[in-house]
Parts: sequence; C-alpha cells; structure tokens
Amino acid sequence: MWPGHHKHSSVQSSFRPWLPLPRSLPLALFLLLLLGSTAAELSTSFYASSCPGLFSTVKSVVRSAISEEKRLGASILRLFFHDCFVLGCDASVLLDDTPTFRGEKTAKPNNNSLRGFEVIDQIKNAVEKACPGVVSCADILAVASRDSVVILGGPNWDVKLGRRDSGKASFSKANKDIPANPIT
Ligand SMILES: *[C@@H]1O[C@H](CO)[C@@H](O)[C@H](O)[C@H]1NC(C)=O
Repeated sequence: MWPGHHKHSSVQSSFRPWLPLPRSLPLALFLLLLLGSTAAELSTSFYASSCPGLFSTVKSVVRSAISEEKRLGASILRLFFHDCFVLGCDASVLLDDTPTFRGEKTAKPNNNSLRGFEVIDQIKNAVEKACPGVVSCADILAVASRDSVVILGGPNWDVKLGRRDSGKASFSKANKDIPANPIT
C-alpha cells in the first residue's frame, strides 16, 4: 500500500521512519469514515477529479442518438422516471431478467414500452472507456435525461451526482408504483 513497503524487510534500517505509521491507523480509518459520509451526499462535482470528461462524453452520445431519432430523448427521460419510481434512482430498471432474478423490465408499465436501453449502453461504454469503473449507471441515466431535455429545447438544470447502482429490483413495485400509461 505504501510506496516501497514491499522493500521493508530487505532494507529495514532505511525504512525506520515509517515504522510508527501503524499507530496512526485509527486516525486513517476515522478519516476514511469521514470521507465515506461526505461521499453519501450528492454533488455536481462528484466526478470532477475521477471523471472530468463525464458530462461531455454523455452529451455527445445523447446528441448523436437524438440526431438519429428525436423521440429517443423522450424515451431516455422516461427510463429515468420509471427507474426512480421503484426503490429510488438506482438504475434498477436497467437490470435484465435471469433465471434466478426478476427485474423491472417486463413489468406492465415497462414491458414492450420502455425504449432507449441501447443508448444507455452506448453511453456506459463511452464513459467506461474514459474512466473505467468510476461512474454509476444511475448517474449516467440522470445526466442523459437532463441532456435529452436540453438538446430537445427544454430547460437546463444542474445534475447532482453520486448515486449508487442497486443490484436489487422490484417487479411488483414496478407494477404497483409507476403511474399507469394513460394511453393504453
Ligand atoms: C412481456 O411481453 C412479452 C412480449 O409481448 C410477453 O411474451 C411477455 O409475457 C410479457 N411479460 C409479462 C410479464 O407480461
């Protein structure tokens, strides 16, 4: 963990000054806890240092998707809306069904109705290329929704970030909590 730590046993004497370090371990843990608690708050600068290109990366993929089909902008916003209605904005709507897991994709308000998953996949791929393993899908959905609205001529807003993706989903809550489609 510490630079040069692996050399410790072979050149022990030159590393004496490092020896008292373990005593500050409780302090280090305490600072980590503090960091953890501030990270629990959403912030517009959440990825400012870990993924500075996030906003431009998301926007360029959304822009090219919308230039191919305008309606995709509305579809992305609706994805976000349907995600947030079930257990919060945690990207659970993106989870595919498996033999042992039932997600929200086939719930009545979503089945054969939600669109734009492939755009979110494209954005995720682009973001992963720029900053591997950093940005949550829930945050990508939130930023892509804002960008969709702005690109289609709607209002702008600052998107606070720091959401965590959930491994849980709820088929029954998706059926119960998402407002019914007034058209069908
Ligand atoms: C979802 O739609 C597919 C295709 O129309 C259908 O076969 C399936 O039964 C639907 N799933 C649910 C849970 O209603």
